[in-house]
Amino acid sequence: MKIVHTAAELSEHLAGAECVAFVPTMGNLHAGHLSLCRIARQHGDAVVTSIFVNRLQFGPNEDFDRYPRTMEADRAGLEREGVDVLFAPMEQEMYPTPQVYRVQPAPLANELEGAFRPGFFDGVCTVVLKLFNLVQPDVAVFGKKDRQQLKIVRGMVQQFNMPIRIVPAETIRADDGLALSSRNNYLTPEERAEAPHLYRVLRGIADEIAAGRTDYANLQSAGRMELAQRGWKVDYVAVRHGIGLRIPHPEGFDHPNLLVVLGAATLGATRLIDNVDVIKKDGED
Ligand code: PAF
Repeated sequence: MKIVHTAAELSEHLAGAECVAFVPTMGNLHAGHLSLCRIARQHGDAVVTSIFVNRLQFGPNEDFDRYPRTMEADRAGLEREGVDVLFAPMEQEMYPTPQVYRVQPAPLANELEGAFRPGFFDGVCTVVLKLFNLVQPDVAVFGKKDRQQLKIVRGMVQQFNMPIRIVPAETIRADDGLALSSRNNYLTPEERAEAPHLYRVLRGIADEIAAGRTDYANLQSAGRMELAQRGWKVDYVAVRHGIGLRIPHPEGFDHPNLLVVLGAATLGATRLIDNVDVIKKDGED
């Protein structure tokens, strides 16, 4: 695996590639990230992963400074997966001057995650656009764990006519259901034991919908209450339509197979997000 830090080195190493498959990350890689690299391998003759902790997508009181930076372990994991190029730019390479031009994403960016993390998706889209311009991938793989991010990036690619295929990848979970996330590292042993409950609550709502319930507001508030009673600070538990993440029709006219249940909540000092399809559909989003 070639490790490059600058845009010039990157383009030099990708010069002969026919089809570039790209996995953007912020590092601290776990089995979920590595599964994205494996999927990328199925789609391109050159697999590029980036590691860049993007300051623009962190709010002033968020964890930019303490976000885990584990370059040596990440490098070894990517090497094992047969990644061809690791692009690990310094901040100066990505933002040589203050980034005053920003992507303004679709209104969906102000809902769900965006309602609790103002500016988050502007920061994500801006860095993803820059990374896409530098890597020039044919295919880019994004995990369904960050479902709203996947939708918003896909929308950006479509609306700006970028010739990149966005491939969704299933969420990888621990045996107890907890979605793998770099932020799981922040959890104390007690919090780690409680953490799968977010998934259980979302899965429970999804199963109720699959069994015919359409009173989404009741299901959402029961889910929020259950988590709150267990000590979580809940941002949202939301039933949405899987295609555009719009609010489903209150009379239950949407086909349950297309619905998805999303949640975000904080346990101790750690904010976790997750989502589940009402009916699991491999490879779709
Ligand atoms: O999902 C992430 O890790 C980040 O939001 C991304 C896409 C690498 C942009 O910084």
